[in-house]
Amino acid sequence: MAQEISSLRKFVAPEIIFGSGARKMVSNYAKTFGAQKVLLVSDPGVVNAGWVVEIEQLLLEEGLDVVRFTQVSPNPRTEEVMLGAEVYLEHGCDVIVAIGGGSPMDCAKAIGIVSTHGTEIRAFEGIDQTTNPIPPLIFIPTTAGTSADVSQFAIISDQQDRVKFSIVSKSVVPDVSLIDPDTTSTMSPFLTACTGVDALVHAIEAFVSTGSGALTDMNALDAIRLINSHLALLVEQPEDKYLREQIMLGSMKAGLAFSNAILGAVHAMSHSLGGFLDLPHGLCNAMLVEHVIDYNYGSAEDRFAVIAQTMGIDTRGLTSRQIQTRLRNHVQALKRDVGLPDTLGKFGVNMSDIPYLSTNAIKDPCILTNPRRSNKRDVELVYEEAL
Ligand SMILES: [Fe+2]
Repeated sequence: MAQEISSLRKFVAPEIIFGSGARKMVSNYAKTFGAQKVLLVSDPGVVNAGWVVEIEQLLLEEGLDVVRFTQVSPNPRTEEVMLGAEVYLEHGCDVIVAIGGGSPMDCAKAIGIVSTHGTEIRAFEGIDQTTNPIPPLIFIPTTAGTSADVSQFAIISDQQDRVKFSIVSKSVVPDVSLIDPDTTSTMSPFLTACTGVDALVHAIEAFVSTGSGALTDMNALDAIRLINSHLALLVEQPEDKYLREQIMLGSMKAGLAFSNAILGAVHAMSHSLGGFLDLPHGLCNAMLVEHVIDYNYGSAEDRFAVIAQTMGIDTRGLTSRQIQTRLRNHVQALKRDVGLPDTLGKFGVNMSDIPYLSTNAIKDPCILTNPRRSNKRDVELVYEEAL
């Protein structure tokens, strides 16, 4: 009986509008939710790119009031969440629209939680800690990678403890995700690379996760195929609309896969690293990914062989060890092609930092679905490999 229960899988997803111009549906959806005053969450980079004023205008044209909240850091902080919730309540907002990358979207989720629970955001760390419904969330991603617009994760940075913590809850899956590849046209090549590698890691970790299932597998494999064949080209030709759309689609599928299958050691370790050094999340993943693949390989050989085949590696006649080597080389080459060849040492990580990083990594919920059960010493060794 226990076995029957553990084979059950749930699949949660927002209502999704995908395609060029999807962002322009924002006022229709806000009105559907009965909005009168919208909290529009974003960050200074997205304001400068011009997307915030466009979305604000669309909402104002339909007679809705808008309150902007754009004081969000690249790794959103607990105090920004608390301030955002204060603004939401002070102005009597009733719907939250977020436009941007993972940072404003995660911050918007956390603002939603605090606005209806009234406590410190850190109290919701972990899995399913919310008790009250949160305001309607309408998200418009402007990067192709984080997938906060489809996921049940919010990652917040606690600067005081120098850690990032995860909130995992169905209640933070947005109500509507308006996924519009046009919005990614303002990403730099570096951001395209970081977010694209993040999406690839989402798909790989979801596929080998102990929480994977039929519904997440099909999304994960298609995401791997799309990102593997289009990301390096997009970094070279950022103006190509077709490539942008393919990467946005890959990112969305990776998001649907990882939101439901959860992730693994790359993310557990990269959350810890990102909290410690305040580095871009995708860059942290890129520095760890092949080392975690090596570490996990023996625990999910068949699944990694399918990943290798999906990335175009001809595995016929190869031993498992040879497939592992080819996969590692392929991932390293892809990282080089998109301009992310760095190692942890370059950003100042020392051997003496590794015990602290590892202590936090093994507390992260993502470690629970890693295909290889891991203790602190295991994680320390992987960080050492990545130095
Ligand atoms: Fe990620």
